[in-house]
Amino acid sequence: MKRASEIGKKIFFGHVGICIILLCVIPVLFIGYSLFRGFDIKIEQMPAETEEDLIVVGFSQLGSESGWRTAHTASIQQALTKDAGYFLIFNNARQMQDNQIKAIRSFISQRVEYIVFAPVIEDGWDTVLQEAKSAGIPVIVTDRMVNVQDESLYTAWIGTDAKEEGKKAGRWLEDYLEQEGRQSEKINIVVLKGTVGSTAEIGRTKGFGEIAAQHGNWHILESVSAEFTANKAKEVMRSILQRYPEMDVLISQNDDMTMGAIEAMQEAGIRFGEGGDVTVISFDATRDALELVKEGRINVNVECNPVQGVYVDEIIQRLEKGEPVEKYYVVEEKVFTRENAAVFLEGRKY
Ligand code: AHR
Repeated sequence: MKRASEIGKKIFFGHVGICIILLCVIPVLFIGYSLFRGFDIKIEQMPAETEEDLIVVGFSQLGSESGWRTAHTASIQQALTKDAGYFLIFNNARQMQDNQIKAIRSFISQRVEYIVFAPVIEDGWDTVLQEAKSAGIPVIVTDRMVNVQDESLYTAWIGTDAKEEGKKAGRWLEDYLEQEGRQSEKINIVVLKGTVGSTAEIGRTKGFGEIAAQHGNWHILESVSAEFTANKAKEVMRSILQRYPEMDVLISQNDDMTMGAIEAMQEAGIRFGEGGDVTVISFDATRDALELVKEGRINVNVECNPVQGVYVDEIIQRLEKGEPVEKYYVVEEKVFTRENAAVFLEGRKY
């Protein structure tokens, strides 16, 4: 027969053991679940009392994947300040549409006066925008577009012409090859695309594709997403360089991916940029990338203008006064090469 003290010990250690196991397992399960869900986002709440004359705006930003995105966020935050008469609730969706939908629903339940949002992809917004419309909250879409059945679900859109950006890249390449006397040569092209389904990816791919289709000698070897990030682009580019040593042109749909791709080319000892074996075409024209344009390491940079906050402010101010607003506002954009980069670098804030 077992003695009572032994049995007691067993029960005691048994309980301690279970507690230790639970203490270890619960956090692991929690972290695993959070990772699976992409970490539930905390949505900033409006304080119980806001100054009465402030206009309450909920802003859902799609993420912080690029230098351009940081500049776009700053542009909205700098325009919708308290001094300008706003109370801004900001939310970063970390690239997840679900997080954006949650943020928009939270803005609706907090009864904000306006919703501003930069959609990560174009599709999938009908239901939540219908909810905002039913709640009587005007929605201003910025940067990328939404693809909805009923366009009255949003009041206005302010952004860039992504398809035209793609065309500009194509037209630049046409002119460049002609100047080089290579207009009839076989040209092998690799395209690093951004987030699949986003306006920037769809538009730039289509725009460049239309020009490429006019040139039977342009061959797109591969068109692959690196999600608008430098790290992913470096990884993707390493593999591309092994598979396509014959690559002549890199079209990289944003500057962050260009930086990653450049690192991979440097590692592989590939000469790129002016006088190199690979012509580099980038999009965005952020400060760091423009420096590389100035040095001739990026051949051309098609601007994507992130300074959109002032227009959002203007749209809201008009709506406040009951004035009509346009449905679509397109910001101005340039093309930068070694010839003009230095001039525009002066005073460029992003
Ligand atoms: O939608 C604009 C694009 O998104 C920019 O080109 C890119 O840098 C960003 O992440």
